[in-house]
Amino acid sequence: MSPVQPPAAPRGRFITVEGGDGAGKSTQTRRLVDRLQAAGVGAIATREPGGSTGGEAIRGLLVSGAPDRWDGVTEALLMSAARRDHWIKTIQPALARGVWVVSDRFADSTMAYQGYGQGIGRGPVEDLARLVLGQARPDLTLILDVPTATGLARAGERGGANGSADDDRFERMGQGFHDRLRDGFLDIARREPDRCALIDASQPVDTVAEAIWETVAHRLGVRDPDTAARTAG
Ligand code: TMP
Repeated sequence: MSPVQPPAAPRGRFITVEGGDGAGKSTQTRRLVDRLQAAGVGAIATREPGGSTGGEAIRGLLVSGAPDRWDGVTEALLMSAARRDHWIKTIQPALARGVWVVSDRFADSTMAYQGYGQGIGRGPVEDLARLVLGQARPDLTLILDVPTATGLARAGERGGANGSADDDRFERMGQGFHDRLRDGFLDIARREPDRCALIDASQPVDTVAEAIWETVAHRLGVRDPDTAARTAG
């Protein structure tokens, strides 16, 4: 007779935060993880490109240098290589331990930036996602939308992708590129309404954080300790 196995921990949920440069994703990712933890949910924040030792090394190649350093296909391949390492070394193990993962960018960024922005098309980006992730997809994707000019102005004030002037390769790609990728994100939200929620990120930071929390609470069934106490009382 085989020994009785302890019940497996329930799998964590996987949330991705997407949008153009300067949409406020990093701030909102941190705030969401803090709020999940306050609600008693074990959660970690991570990011792409990056999120694992290998992913962060590849990130350095992608975010610095001249805008034409890589063409769209090379970029999509490097993003996918970084994602594969992030997926197997960081995300999958956390989800298997029952920890929730909130990622600042994921596969929809490759669709928007390389598929629509660089014009390599949906088909090749979908093929790469299948290779990297199999059938796995995020449980919920929050798409933070701001007008292109607003996002670029905010990103310009902040500095490059890491707050450093050397990390602004994508921000220097011009308004036409950023308009295409914004349309790409809006198209992704329209095509997959069950997975994606569109958030108006031109509102104040606290208002955006509240809209995100309501969406997460409603779609994934999390309750604030405050709300839970009020309902019980
Ligand atoms: P970050 O500024 O959000 O840290 O991301 C760095 C840049 O990488 C950002 O300008 C968007 C870009 N990017 C892509 O072009 N494709 C991708 O798949 C990902 C994850 C990011």
